[in-house]
Order: sequence, then C-alpha cells, then structure tokens
Amino acid sequence: MTISVSSGVSTTPRTTTTYHLGSIEQIPPGEGRVYVVAGRQIAIFRTRDDTLYATQAHCPHRNGPLADGLVGSHTVLCPLHSYQFDLRTGAPSMPSCTALTLYPVTVDSSRNIVLQLE
Ligand code: FES
Repeated sequence: MTISVSSGVSTTPRTTTTYHLGSIEQIPPGEGRVYVVAGRQIAIFRTRDDTLYATQAHCPHRNGPLADGLVGSHTVLCPLHSYQFDLRTGAPSMPSCTALTLYPVTVDSSRNIVLQLE
C-alpha cells in the first residue's frame, strides 16, 4: 500500500519540513508502508513495540521493496535477497551493501506519524 502526502505543515530555518502522515494505525504492528511525501518514496516501519522508523523505500542492493520485508524488533529483512538492515542505524548485514538512508520520524500525542524531511 502506498500513501501520498503532498504538502508539509511547517518549515524550520534549515529547510527541514515536517509532514503529518496520519494515524499510526495505518501501519499494522510489525509491518511497513510506503508513503510518497513531496514526491519522494519513504518506507515507514512500525515495530511490534510501536517504534517507528523511516528509510528509503528501495533496498540499496537491487531495489527491493523494503516496506514488504519482514520487520523484526529493530530490523527489516529485504524480501528479494534477505539482506537484513538495522533500522536504528541503516547498517546492512552484508558489508558489500550500502547503508539505508534514514529519516527522523515520531508519533505525536494524537498518535499521528510525524516525518521530517530536508
Ligand atoms: S534487493 Fe534487497 S537484498 Fe537484494
């Protein structure tokens, strides 16, 4: 499932824009979803303990759809070739692969997803 968000709601002097992506309930625990935010595809993962992580949507190995991967406590397993990535750091399990790009994401008091993009 891909969810589109076209405009942010606030901008800081460093040109970081905050995007409110809607309820965390759009993402079942232990799964990921792709959001198109200002034309960029971002994968958002919700772990079973309700922690959110945001990364690039496609695997740096061969463009696998990371949001379709298996989500662990703080990891995602790419569905194409089973490379594992640490969602806290972006680090891959295979040294030949590059790390994921990460984006700051939180949940606000209304349980809405809040993403920051530069
Ligand atoms: S495309 Fe992700 S591990 Fe190969």
